Amino acid sequence: MTRPEAPAGAAAGLPGVPAGARELRKRYTAADLSVFTREEASRFVPQGGGDPQASVVLAWELLYRLEPDLYDRLATAERLHPGVVGWLPRGVDRIAEVGAGTGRLTMELVERGQHVVAVEPALPLRRILRRKLAAAGHGNRARVIHGFFDRLPLPDGFADLVVACSAFTPAPGHGGESGLAEMERACRPGGQVAIIWPNHLDWLAARGYRYVSFPGPMSVDFGSHDEAVELAEIFYPGAAGEVRRRGWRRVPFEALGINPPRDLAFKVLAG
Ligand SMILES: C[S@@+](CC[C@H](N)C(=O)[O-])C[C@H]1O[C@@H](n2cnc3c(N)ncnc32)[C@H](O)[C@@H]1O
Repeated sequence: MTRPEAPAGAAAGLPGVPAGARELRKRYTAADLSVFTREEASRFVPQGGGDPQASVVLAWELLYRLEPDLYDRLATAERLHPGVVGWLPRGVDRIAEVGAGTGRLTMELVERGQHVVAVEPALPLRRILRRKLAAAGHGNRARVIHGFFDRLPLPDGFADLVVACSAFTPAPGHGGESGLAEMERACRPGGQVAIIWPNHLDWLAARGYRYVSFPGPMSVDFGSHDEAVELAEIFYPGAAGEVRRRGWRRVPFEALGINPPRDLAFKVLAG
């Protein structure tokens, strides 16, 4: 996923602006970093310190832990291209997903594999995902477990498909060299590893990953215009004015300045 460093929104942080409209980069302070477990801190703030107002990557990690429902509303609106989901193998025995979040992809994977293991480090997101799986009647076919890219709690050759969606990056705290090696270790010979909505395509290509992209217009589908404005102010502050002016509920990705979730990089492991 490619998200630009969020530009400062005109209204962000001003007196009288409700907290709900404060852009992501301004929502948290260094004091909030205490929410990280020791394991999380070792990945997300390895040198100690850290300022979520200077690092949008840190702000995302705090969002998952401090305002998981807000994150879930965004992920629900940012739907994957149906071509991406359709491309994934069907009728396989075991699928492992890493960085499953609140299940944007997991809820599709349960239709494609007999057994799904969703690995997710953030406890509040695991809770939401478990709730969704249970509500959809998939509670017994999908296991939601704690883990990180670089230390997957899965045996060698465990899954036919090992996949990550909008979660893997070459940075060590979010996958990196050891995370990719772990995904490949957990995949059976002849199986596939897939990185959905990838960034750093050259990095993946240099490691033998091929690229697929699906065409067509794509938009973020909010529940209402009000929700579009609210979430744009937080997550896409540079586009919030246009969202408001045009009365959009459905916001084209071009207006947001991020690439849409229409692509993936994959590797078929030697059999
Ligand atoms: C943008 S969310 C995407 C969630 C979900 N895959 C989706 O597409 O909706 C990124 C996810 O990666 C997880 N994550 C961050 N660092 C991770 C790591 N080192 N290992 C595994 N997951 C990680 C986060 O907790 C979060 O759930």
